[in-house]
Amino acid sequence: MQDQIKNINTLEELQALYTATFGKNGTMTARLKEMKNLDNDARAALNMENQNLRELFKTRQTEIENAVLMAGLQKQKLDVSLNAAPENRGTLHPMTQSLIEISEILESFGYTPYTGPEIEDDWHNFTALNTPDYHPARDMQDTFFLGNGNVMRTQTSAIQIRTMEKTGAPVKMFGIGTTYRKEMDATHAPMFGQIEGLYINKNITMSDLIGDIRAFLKRFFEMDDIQLRIRPSYFPFTDPSIEVDLKWKNGRWLEIMGAGMVHPNVLRNCGINPDEYQGFAFGFGWDRLAMLKYDLPDLRDFRGNDIRWLKSAGF
Ligand code: DAH
Repeated sequence: MQDQIKNINTLEELQALYTATFGKNGTMTARLKEMKNLDNDARAALNMENQNLRELFKTRQTEIENAVLMAGLQKQKLDVSLNAAPENRGTLHPMTQSLIEISEILESFGYTPYTGPEIEDDWHNFTALNTPDYHPARDMQDTFFLGNGNVMRTQTSAIQIRTMEKTGAPVKMFGIGTTYRKEMDATHAPMFGQIEGLYINKNITMSDLIGDIRAFLKRFFEMDDIQLRIRPSYFPFTDPSIEVDLKWKNGRWLEIMGAGMVHPNVLRNCGINPDEYQGFAFGFGWDRLAMLKYDLPDLRDFRGNDIRWLKSAGF
């Protein structure tokens, strides 16, 4: 019987033999029924035989099942050359990508990120920035007035005021945020982004400012060498004020940012003594910078969020 079991190779045959042995009319079943007629030793021997046989069946069953499984696996051929269905992968929006890059660079220079509200009060958006009510510099920016004394933030410079009010000096911060102005053409959108940097400490000079701007632009645009042109300019909140042009890859000069030494009135408005502390600030267009970096023609598309445009632009 034992050899017989070992020689069976299919589950069906094994099942048949099992039934013939342990089934209602099975040989073992019949013998077990007669057990009462046996003496103790013979009973024990029969019990043992019964148990061993059952185990043998079980073992053989597992062996056959494994063999069937292995044979099946060997027959199955996995065709790894089949083309997978195309998958739509999302990517970060160019504004987000540039936000991350800009933040990483400025933070590596020791600037701490700060934010502020997009609905801003007159004090933070204008007055504290040395632009009181009557100041002609208010005309430099076409403002969305909200009618309750608040405005849609026209410049992230408001963030430097909020930060200095909170931290006092010394402070080294940057803010990135959305800003709003009543203007619209290929290089101006009513909703756009700005980046503001500020460093107030003792003995800070214009060359610290230009050094940081140079290092920042070099890193952001991944250029080995950059040429800058520094032009005198005017902003109410800086004195002296400058504008910075960058010589672009096509040889043209691009106006990149405004900057300057923070006006003593601005420091005073934030409770900082200008005889003790001074520093610089700079501000530039976040969308504009991203547009240049990714070589995209129209600023307005950036915030349109047309997925076809984003795809065609390689995002
Ligand atoms: N806020 C200015 C603008 O919107 C940009 C700017 C210029 C920011 C000079 C500054 C700065 O911090 O020092 O045009």
